[in-house]
Amino acid sequence: MPKGTISILGLGAMGSAMAERLRVQGFTTTVWNRTAAKARPHVEAGSKAAATVAEAAAASDVVIVVLLDHASVREHLEPAAADLKGKVVVNLTTTTPNESRATAAWAADHGITYLDGAIMAVPEMIGTPHARLLYAGDENAFAIAKPALETFGAAEFEGADAGLASLKDMALLTAMYQMFGGLLQATAMMRTVGVPAEQTAKDVIAWLGAVLPLAEEFATVVDGGEYDPAPGQSVDFTRAAMASLITASREQGVSADFLEPVKKHLDELTATGRGTADWISVVEQLRIR
Ligand SMILES: NC(=O)c1ccc[n+]([C@@H]2O[C@H](COP(=O)([O-])OP(=O)(O)OC[C@H]3O[C@@H](n4cnc5c(N)ncnc54)[C@H](OP(=O)(O)O)[C@@H]3O)[C@@H](O)[C@H]2O)c1
Repeated sequence: MPKGTISILGLGAMGSAMAERLRVQGFTTTVWNRTAAKARPHVEAGSKAAATVAEAAAASDVVIVVLLDHASVREHLEPAAADLKGKVVVNLTTTTPNESRATAAWAADHGITYLDGAIMAVPEMIGTPHARLLYAGDENAFAIAKPALETFGAAEFEGADAGLASLKDMALLTAMYQMFGGLLQATAMMRTVGVPAEQTAKDVIAWLGAVLPLAEEFATVVDGGEYDPAPGQSVDFTRAAMASLITASREQGVSADFLEPVKKHLDELTATGRGTADWISVVEQLRIR
């Protein structure tokens, strides 16, 4: 028995995976894509194709948007505002927190119930226990769409501020890219003596696995706000270590561009008399307003 009607705007890798998952889970799906040919396999598998966004909006109470970026979302939702009125729109397109907030404000002005989302998964993970999706905005929209959203993976509501899911997404991606930046730096250093990337990857995985649990100890210190005297490594100690890392990199002919900003923050802490504080007080330096 059909579970509900859902329209999906966007049939790229992610939108296609979601449309398929909803179909398999018994939802009646209507799909729309800018390049109409991409709807064909979905129609063959049981979805209805909408020729326009307005048609897709009319077909379902819940409209899931998985387009490229903020500009493409606004380009296609704005002309269909009247058709989307009274509908639940779940925008899973990656956008910045302020872009999410702007779309939420636009939706509110047009009587559209808006939920913003962020996908912590790749398309292959959709529908597996490894997929985690974050949502923010209208909690009633979350409740209405939840049976469909839970087919994708864990569905977590972050709060009424429509920028919150995006903010967490961006924060987690920042942590990921900084970590992989470190891996690439280590790989470049070891390749100067002929060590293949495969070996360094193994070494880095083992090393980071051993030290990553320290993150929880760091969090306790940051939340407590007491950095001096240092519960862990001091600014002065870490500054000396960082200077060695920079020198070692350069001596191997490898750029230290990824490391220098951290050293700069540590230098500032020492210069302002905070050399004995815990080095993780750098987190306070990062806030620029
Ligand atoms: N793939 C991932 O691993 C992943 C993970 C997390 C989040 N996301 C997010 O999910 C969203 C979709 O990603 P994807 O992997 O499905 O990307 P994709 O495979 O490149 O597909 C992009 C989709 O956006 C459409 N599109 C692009 N520009 C458009 C425009 N100006 N007007 C209308 N439609 C337009 C494309 O339509 P056409 O077919 O007509 O080109 C296609 O449906 C992105 O925001 C992405 O950041 C993806």
